Amino acid sequence: MRGLKIALIPGDGIGRDVTAETVKVLKAIERRFGAGLQLESLPWSADHYLQTGVTLPPDGYDQLRQFDAVFIGALGDPRVPDNRHARDILLGTRFELDLYVNYRPIRLLDGRLCPLKGRTPADVNFTVFRENTEGLYVNIGGRFKAGTEDEVAIQEEVNTWKGVHRIVRHAFGFARARGLKRICMADKSNAMTSGHALWQRVFRDVSAEYPDIAATHYYIDALAMYLVLDPGQFDVIVTNNLFGDIITDLGAALQGGLGMAASGNLHPGRTSMFEPVHGSAPKLAGRNIANPIGAIASAALMLDTLGLTDEAAAIDDAVLAAVRANEVTQDIGGNLGTREAGDAIVKWLK
Ligand code: NAD
Ligand code: IPM
Ligand code: MN
Repeated sequence: MRGLKIALIPGDGIGRDVTAETVKVLKAIERRFGAGLQLESLPWSADHYLQTGVTLPPDGYDQLRQFDAVFIGALGDPRVPDNRHARDILLGTRFELDLYVNYRPIRLLDGRLCPLKGRTPADVNFTVFRENTEGLYVNIGGRFKAGTEDEVAIQEEVNTWKGVHRIVRHAFGFARARGLKRICMADKSNAMTSGHALWQRVFRDVSAEYPDIAATHYYIDALAMYLVLDPGQFDVIVTNNLFGDIITDLGAALQGGLGMAASGNLHPGRTSMFEPVHGSAPKLAGRNIANPIGAIASAALMLDTLGLTDEAAAIDDAVLAAVRANEVTQDIGGNLGTREAGDAIVKWLK
């Protein structure tokens, strides 16, 4: 018994639906492998905020640091139009726990799920590393004369050598560890000539330490195009916070949709956080419609990161088997509900 403590934050909307299925799968893993997983639910959500006025308690991030990993369903609710609770709980966790690596593998499980003509799993199999602690997400800026025709709105983008270097290094380290030979950095250094010149310099310097890996560069607009025209040319992509956000929704579409995409928010060696790429999809919430695969695959990333590689592989295999058997939700062509799709994955675990 290794006794790993996992915090669960189901959050809002379909975050709750998909977290329930993830818990089923983790409990089945526990029965089969006896990994010693201890799951503890935290109520932080829009409901909790609207009832108590508290997004998360003053020691919230310290609480999270006591766990081996954190799993989040999704945050976002139309009753909180300024998204305050999601900023504190989701972005706050990324920043306060310094989870600088947003790890988003894009893997097509079955050719029939890909919206591109004739593409197979061999064509869509790459990993995006999104910088996760700076860029345009630092929320530095302000509004002057707000609400008037003279309004000035400033939103600063922060790029630091340390921040860029550690994500670029992580991406190269991942490529080498996995025997991957190609890494592509995407920026907008033709227009953003200060901040993204730093990305250029760091990428060039780090790539010199990895002569075994072919390092290429695309401007982000061209990358978006190539992701559609020729996704097979990519093994690893590294980019900044905002561009990584955008291209991973595109990547999710290549996998069959937002319901399929998994992610980890990592600080290697420390408590990390795992979540599906999708949001709370309020219109689908509580209706037994949402696809739980992105969430369940995120739990597999979590177990893999915690060293439970057999357990993680068992989940990935079960998800693949359920997809091949078309025992899945409607968004990817099945006819099951969220709960039945979760049950199918549990069944394939056996
Ligand atoms: P969304 O990902 O919630 O949904 C967009 C669309 O994608 C949905 O309408 C649905 O058609 C489809 N979709 C998403 N997940 C699905 C699933 N599991 N199964 C089937 N279909 C699925 O994005 P949005 O509509 O832009 O945002 C809704 C709310 O979620 C907002 O408040 C937003 O800020 C928040 N959000 C949160 C996270 C997060 O918690 N990590 C991520 C993205 C968006
Ligand atoms: C994601 C989401 C978040 C982000 C939102 C909810 C702030 O879109 O995890 O991709 O932009 O990072
Ligand atoms: Mn996003």
